[in-house]
Amino acid sequence: MPGRSLFRTISSLLAIAGGSSVLAQRCTYTSLQALTAAYVSAQVAGDPSLLLPQGLTTSTLYTENFVPTSLTSAHSILTTPLAIDHKRSLHDTTQCATYTEIVVASGPSLTHHVIGTQIRLSESGKEIGSVDSIVTTEGDWLFNATSTLYWASREDWSSIPATRRDSRETIKAGGDAYLSLFNDSSVQVPWGVPCNRLEGGNYNDDVGECNNWIPEGVPIVNRQYVIDETVGAVDIFCDFAGPGGVPDSHEFRLEGGKLRFVHTMTYMRGRVGGRVRG
Ligand SMILES: *[C@@H]1O[C@H](CO)[C@@H](O)[C@H](O)[C@H]1NC(C)=O
Ligand SMILES: *[C@@H]1O[C@H](CO)[C@@H](O)[C@H](O)[C@H]1NC(C)=O
Repeated sequence: MPGRSLFRTISSLLAIAGGSSVLAQRCTYTSLQALTAAYVSAQVAGDPSLLLPQGLTTSTLYTENFVPTSLTSAHSILTTPLAIDHKRSLHDTTQCATYTEIVVASGPSLTHHVIGTQIRLSESGKEIGSVDSIVTTEGDWLFNATSTLYWASREDWSSIPATRRDSRETIKAGGDAYLSLFNDSSVQVPWGVPCNRLEGGNYNDDVGECNNWIPEGVPIVNRQYVIDETVGAVDIFCDFAGPGGVPDSHEFRLEGGKLRFVHTMTYMRGRVGGRVRG
């Protein structure tokens, strides 16, 4: 029955074409840049409603330090206007997800913040599915926003020429290797020379090596990735020191397949229990 099979073939082709056009429209680099720009504006204004045109809905999941929080609550960081001194974002067109690093280092030190936020679009791409923030301030691991601002704004995380870009897999594997080394000292990590690590506010500018001060026997689990090949970077949200460990962000930039920069933020203050949403 050639007629029928031809009909089937045409139907499948139409389905594939329809499907891919939906996928193609789900997000673009430009649409994700508009999303991170709106997120930064919302944080400056302390007004989450500035994300409504980007697809924020009442069903958008919002967490702070891995605990579900009401976006509109007076206690959420997004309803607190912040004078942002430094920001940088990753845009992941494969997952339709973004990551933004924010540093607030002016004013009294109690109002200083270093924030990492991953935003994910829904399956349709029309809505913001989730906003997850790691919010660090005084008392968190090696926190010093003045120092973070100083070093973060001196590093070059600019776009890498297309012919020299690492693959998504290479970038992800580089970040994963670094995190896995904490629990398995036999893991081979693609160390760059130099490699600079901004851990909280601590910077290793004197040594230029990241293969030091790495503990042993520390599993880092529940990894949640945002990958941007154009800048060679991956951000990984994770539970540091096993399930229910401390909320942590590790961000990596690779150049030529090697780790060039590492940024960490780790929330330390009185968190109990595990991650509610994986
Ligand atoms: C934070 O870092 C700055 C710049 O490196 C330094 O001057 C300051 O003493 C540090 N603050 C604390 C509390 O360590
Ligand atoms: C961490 O290492 C231990 C000991 O080798 C192993 O049993 C465990 O599965 C590892 N955990 C992870 C998350 O890799």
